[in-house]
Amino acid sequence: MDPRASGLTQRLADAGQSHLLQFWNELSPEEQADLTIDLQGMDFQEISGFFKNAMETSSNSKQEKMDARMGPVPREVLGSVTRDRDSLKDWELAGLDCISQSKVAALLLAGGQGTRLGVSYPKGMYDVGLPSHKTLFQIQAERILKLQQLAEQKHKIKCCIPWYIMTSGRTMESTKDFFSRHNHFGLDKNNIIFFQQGMLPAMDYNGKIILENKGKLSMAPDGNGGLYRALGNQHIMDDMERRGIEFIHVYCVDNILVKVADPAFVGFCVQKGADCGAKVVEKTNPTEAVGVVCKVDGHYQVVEYSEITLATAEKRSADGRLMFNAGNVANHFFSFSFLKDVVQKYEPKLQHHVAQKKIPFVNTQGQLIKPDKPNGIKMEKFVFDIFQFAKTFVVYEVLREDEFSPLKNADSQDAKDTPTTARHALMSLHHRWVLNAGGHFIDENGRRVPAIPSLKDGTDLPIKCEISPLVSYGGEGLEELVKGREFHPTLMIDESGVHELVKNGV
Ligand code: UD1
Repeated sequence: MDPRASGLTQRLADAGQSHLLQFWNELSPEEQADLTIDLQGMDFQEISGFFKNAMETSSNSKQEKMDARMGPVPREVLGSVTRDRDSLKDWELAGLDCISQSKVAALLLAGGQGTRLGVSYPKGMYDVGLPSHKTLFQIQAERILKLQQLAEQKHKIKCCIPWYIMTSGRTMESTKDFFSRHNHFGLDKNNIIFFQQGMLPAMDYNGKIILENKGKLSMAPDGNGGLYRALGNQHIMDDMERRGIEFIHVYCVDNILVKVADPAFVGFCVQKGADCGAKVVEKTNPTEAVGVVCKVDGHYQVVEYSEITLATAEKRSADGRLMFNAGNVANHFFSFSFLKDVVQKYEPKLQHHVAQKKIPFVNTQGQLIKPDKPNGIKMEKFVFDIFQFAKTFVVYEVLREDEFSPLKNADSQDAKDTPTTARHALMSLHHRWVLNAGGHFIDENGRRVPAIPSLKDGTDLPIKCEISPLVSYGGEGLEELVKGREFHPTLMIDESGVHELVKNGV
């Protein structure tokens, strides 16, 4: 195979990317074929346009200007589970009603590479060490199943919440395989729709594509905002239209507490006539690694933790709270018609963000180098970059301890957002569900454990308690199982009943 014959050599020369064929003669015929396929599928003009625009927008001076353009979320677009308690039930009923009519879909963003967690498989397959050893995918699947049942019981009609799962070139096969090995966790496999986001090459600061090895480009998923392009080119919007979907809950894979297709959130957005909404928790620490929902030049946007200066992150309002405290938990609501407009009209207007990275590369001598400081960029679009196009945008504030505990990093001494913090957050929530339903916990001496566990060995260990999502979606339906009863931890409540694991020697 000769790249000159196919015009590839010329195309690369025109694009200033001739170095990609530098090791051509050292490659095996298979490697040559693979490289040719990769290169032929690439639109170099488009990629170089992305690079130029992304580099321009990411300059530091712009970051400072951005701070000056930011304003907080006004109260009138905000709904809150604490401040608007009276409306909560209404929102939930409205959401359940939509679900019962099969108008609501869940859309999972699972194309990330889990680099920080340090696993080579998709994050959704991670087991944080719960008593049941359920993975994030299984927990989410069971929440969907339960919510379908709740809507069906309430409205006496059969319904379905289709689950769209976005993967990337790196996660597609293993994700699909995992779901089929687990029998789709009891869901109808026709209602789980996998699709794949795009990939972009990593580039050095001069716009040259980086070679990961002699015959392979360094490629990475194009960010969770790659969603919109993928929705169009893989005909997912058509699938939604065929199914009569009107509202979509988009969320990230890593939050163990995520309320998939949350009826209260959906109901709130629908009642406010919103085309787009974001769920937030109050950000209390200026350096917490969450983006903040705010207005920039009068348009809604999430400003990422990496894009804001510390001075702005530390600004406080008169009441002492952080001025930019609407912490993005990566749970978004879209109306179908808004999403369709985004896919058809707005997506091309979105610019890529630049992440400076240490990208392993082969140097001109053919040696593999692992740099110890950033040597290039990855380009990513972000899922929330389309907030600016919404006509009616709303923000829904929830309690962190009930709804947000992301899994980002591997366990280590001072790490945040780890398997341990995720496991503890879930067990602590379920512990509170049991207490709220009238149950109690007792220790090995038969004494009642106080509602707030004491500090043992300097660590705040939660009571070991896990409730299957198949039993309760959000704490409902537990009274008949626990009211007036005392339990020894570890308590497990699942479809087969109530189990005390330690007492029974399990
Ligand atoms: C994300 C949010 C941040 C929020 C935080 C809360 C974005 C861009 N940022 O940050 O505002 O405060 O979560 O936990 O949403 N993903 C893809 N394709 C990709 C890259 C990522 O599908 O190309 C998915 C991941 O699988 C994951 C999600 O997007 O489900 C978030 O990705 P991650 O890189 O972990 O985002 P954060 O930086 O933590």
